[in-house]
Amino acid sequence: QGTPTQAIRGPVVTFRGDPFKDGLDATMVYESDAIVAFGDGKVTHFGPADKVKAQLPDSVQVRDYGKDSLITAGFLDSHVHFPQTPMIAAFGEQLLDWLNKYTFPTERKYADKAFASSVAKTFLAEQLKNGTTTSCIYCTVFPQSVDALFEEAERLNMRISAGKVLMNRNAPDYLLDTTNSGYDDSKALIRKWHNRGRLMYCITPRFAPTSTPDQLQSAGELWDEFPDCFMQTHVSENVDEVEWVKSLFPDRKGYLDVYDHHKLCRPRAVFGHGIHLTEEELGTMHTTGSAISHCPTSNFFLGSGYLDIYRAMRADRPVRVGLGTDLGAGTSFSILLTLNEAYKAAQLNRQKLTGAQGLYLATRGTAHAMYIEDKVGSIAPGMEADIVVLDMKSTPIIDYRMQFVEDIHEALFVQMTLGDDRAVQATYVAGKLQHERPSIH
Ligand code: GUN
Ligand code: ZN
Repeated sequence: QGTPTQAIRGPVVTFRGDPFKDGLDATMVYESDAIVAFGDGKVTHFGPADKVKAQLPDSVQVRDYGKDSLITAGFLDSHVHFPQTPMIAAFGEQLLDWLNKYTFPTERKYADKAFASSVAKTFLAEQLKNGTTTSCIYCTVFPQSVDALFEEAERLNMRISAGKVLMNRNAPDYLLDTTNSGYDDSKALIRKWHNRGRLMYCITPRFAPTSTPDQLQSAGELWDEFPDCFMQTHVSENVDEVEWVKSLFPDRKGYLDVYDHHKLCRPRAVFGHGIHLTEEELGTMHTTGSAISHCPTSNFFLGSGYLDIYRAMRADRPVRVGLGTDLGAGTSFSILLTLNEAYKAAQLNRQKLTGAQGLYLATRGTAHAMYIEDKVGSIAPGMEADIVVLDMKSTPIIDYRMQFVEDIHEALFVQMTLGDDRAVQATYVAGKLQHERPSIH
């Protein structure tokens, strides 16, 4: 179990399983007054405060966050572009024009390592401020942008998955690699960073239109050489994009088949969006163990549409679904705010997303989608101590609204609908306090 060196006290909600599959009663753990103790980066104790207190050595100080807090596992973001931090809120375009007009010119700047390092610092600090402790991150085509991000993540001891974007066509020349250089650069980055401390490498073909079949093939072969790496790309985000892929790959059955053909559909594959996937494609996602990252703020911002998560998760062929901000097409770093939009996406599909289901998606659900739920995403002895402390009364209107709340379920829904970075009081990464919001009470 390990030796505890620190402990925190307050109400805790965490999950032991998947509430979408097995229901809330069997999976949600709520302790109204709990202690979570940790040492050596891992949780050593979790349970009712009185019980755990008796088990802790006297030398361990307990920091009490009080009854208006909520302790949960750190949030996860399964799809985000760190280089797009400087261009969040770019006006007026849908996906393909947005890429050409804003994204590609911005990503050009990451040839400069110093610029990349400064954005990486801002980006990870902002994530911690929002309670996000693990994410799956796109860098740019430039290997130095990957070094910049991993160096800062290593300094913070964050568990992240990230990689160099592979793109060898259909973008400006200044942003293109080649099949060979993309393969060689990715391989060197894997050797340098993959499984170094908490860092994980993610093979990252941007999306089918910006890679030749040859480059997608080489990405699949690289993955065969390093099978415990991750893989991320985009799929079926926008209807014009889907049509473009069909015209670029006339021999394939559809968009997902382009990836499946090159052996890119497997466990640890995270596909951004997947809004317009067909029934057959969802079947392939299920059979291959691939995951969808649901990015509602981005989907609404770019006018792409809205994913039906219940269709994706359908019990007879469930597809793993994680939550993503997709910043900078996404409009917020906040996973709470992303849940607010996920609720609205569900409404448009005539479905419900409860506060507890939302918190599951923000934590263990996304860890499950990324195949790292044995490490992060829940609070239990042995899990890595990535922990968020929420302030349940972080703004005047939330404070007011909370007076009328009748149970933890309603409280969670109020936080997911009204909360943002101000609700994040403290963020612990591998047991170390890495963000503390200035007091507002
Ligand atoms: N498809 C290909 N590249 C991108 C990107 O950077 N953002 C989004 N949202 N979709 C993409
Ligand atoms: Zn994206």
